[in-house]
Amino acid sequence: MSAQFPVSTVYPASSAWDTGNIAAELYKHLIVAIDGPAGAGKSTIARSLAGKLGFTYIDTGAMYRAVALWALRVGVDLDDLHRLEQLAKEAHIEFKAGETTVLLNGEDVTAVIREPRVTEAASKVSAAPGVRRAMRNEQRRIGAAQSVVMEGRDIGTVVFPDAQVKVFLDADPHVRAVRRASENGGDVGQIAREIAERDHRDRTRGEAPLTQAPDAEYVDTTGLSPTQVEEAILKLVRERTSNGKARH
Ligand code: DC
Repeated sequence: MSAQFPVSTVYPASSAWDTGNIAAELYKHLIVAIDGPAGAGKSTIARSLAGKLGFTYIDTGAMYRAVALWALRVGVDLDDLHRLEQLAKEAHIEFKAGETTVLLNGEDVTAVIREPRVTEAASKVSAAPGVRRAMRNEQRRIGAAQSVVMEGRDIGTVVFPDAQVKVFLDADPHVRAVRRASENGGDVGQIAREIAERDHRDRTRGEAPLTQAPDAEYVDTTGLSPTQVEEAILKLVRERTSNGKARH
């Protein structure tokens, strides 16, 4: 599996480093790990933060969704761990155009991976240890090559346990369901039940369950605007990069 990125997103422009007075000279390479359950605000925040910092934004959920889509299309049984692992290893996943467009084997799958059937399949596919291994390897390769804001469920705990900045975003379950409904449509009550089921699967799976890393900052976004959440994280980035934790 491989992921490719437009060169322009790999290294920050000098003006981007100045954003929020973050001391650029203190670090050359930074991993910002953002984890949390569905609807906590991860994507909105991570994408905007990456833009401000001039880092590459990586939506790891989109990677699991792309593998799930492929599995559905070729009719792989979602309990067939071996075949799922094979697909995950062979999948060619790329992020394009400011990292919002997702290509699977050259095809733009940005919209289709958000369909409910893919969402449901991704939750199952992501529990397969071999799939996680393939995704993890790829995520580490990407993060080793450039500064990233990477969002998912296990970024601060498993993929980059040494990330300099770790955030665990959370929100009231009802608010999370309302957010998802306003993004994708649908009935809030039904979405709430589906989110609860997927959260439970994410939190209780044997491999890399969703959990807060001990050194992650917990941010409850329930009553906060995206700007407030972003400010809180930028403050954390400043703190964590000014106390010698950043790598050179
Ligand atoms: O964030 P999302 O809803 O797009 O994620 C899709 C699925 O992938 C979801 O069921 C959780 C899973 N996932 C995961 O297990 N680990 C990640 N790092 C990211 C997503």
